[in-house]
Amino acid sequence: LKEGTPITSRIQSDSVPRHVAIIMDGNGRWATKQGLPRIMGHHAGANNCRLVVQVMKDCGVHYLTIYAFSTENWKRPTLEVKGLFRIMAQFIVDATPTLHAENIKVRHIGSMENLPKVLQNRFRYAVELTRDNTGMNFTIALNYGGRADILNAVRILLQDNIKPEEITEELFSRYLYTADIPDPDLIIRTGAEMRTSNFLLWQGAYSEYYFTPTLWPAFNEAEIEKVFEIYGQRNRRFGGL
Ligand code: IPE
Ligand code: IPE
Ligand code: MG
Repeated sequence: LKEGTPITSRIQSDSVPRHVAIIMDGNGRWATKQGLPRIMGHHAGANNCRLVVQVMKDCGVHYLTIYAFSTENWKRPTLEVKGLFRIMAQFIVDATPTLHAENIKVRHIGSMENLPKVLQNRFRYAVELTRDNTGMNFTIALNYGGRADILNAVRILLQDNIKPEEITEELFSRYLYTADIPDPDLIIRTGAEMRTSNFLLWQGAYSEYYFTPTLWPAFNEAEIEKVFEIYGQRNRRFGGL
């Protein structure tokens, strides 16, 4: 982390969102720009994750959710998909001891189905190891899609024989992958695109969005400070006055 005054003393605690979600985009372009293969961008992106998790935790964020692989990312060349899963499996092995030592609770949203067994096992290990931790909740959206999340909830609702008149927004939320996670207050997307790409569709109904052209491997502490400052100035009305 950067020398000098810590970020925690520079930001106002009331401008720190309770739940930050991030669409980590731009790894490929970051690599291409430096004449590197795309996979090197994913390596750099994974490293940057570790930094961002630490900064968010230090700032007092309670929930951090990151979008690591979408249900649509299977459309990419097999080699890139395999490379991504290998990097994620390594990331979990490398990061888990630190996450655990930092009292961080690791979780997964999305479907484990079709993911390599090694990745599934390592993920489950990290989740199991950190399940009683009481610090920041760190959720990795892996093989996640907002539409798939909603359809999955509908299927379980039907299996549970829930009657139409019993279905409320509150009940429905409890059937989503994010059941006991509050809705994101702030959704950050790096990499210049201004779209959700199927991330937290239901949950993001009243989230504040922040889009930045910065590519994910270059998204750093200084920018987090800026984002929180801007977030602190937003006026969240939730439909009211
Ligand atoms: C984000 O970076 C990582 C994933 C989607 C898995 P990209 O791989 O989408 O990078 P760009 O958008 O091509 O630069
Ligand atoms: C969004 O990035 C998904 C993740 C960051 C995991 P993409 O690169 O897949 O999004 P599109 O294809 O540009 O919408
Ligand atoms: Mg992209």
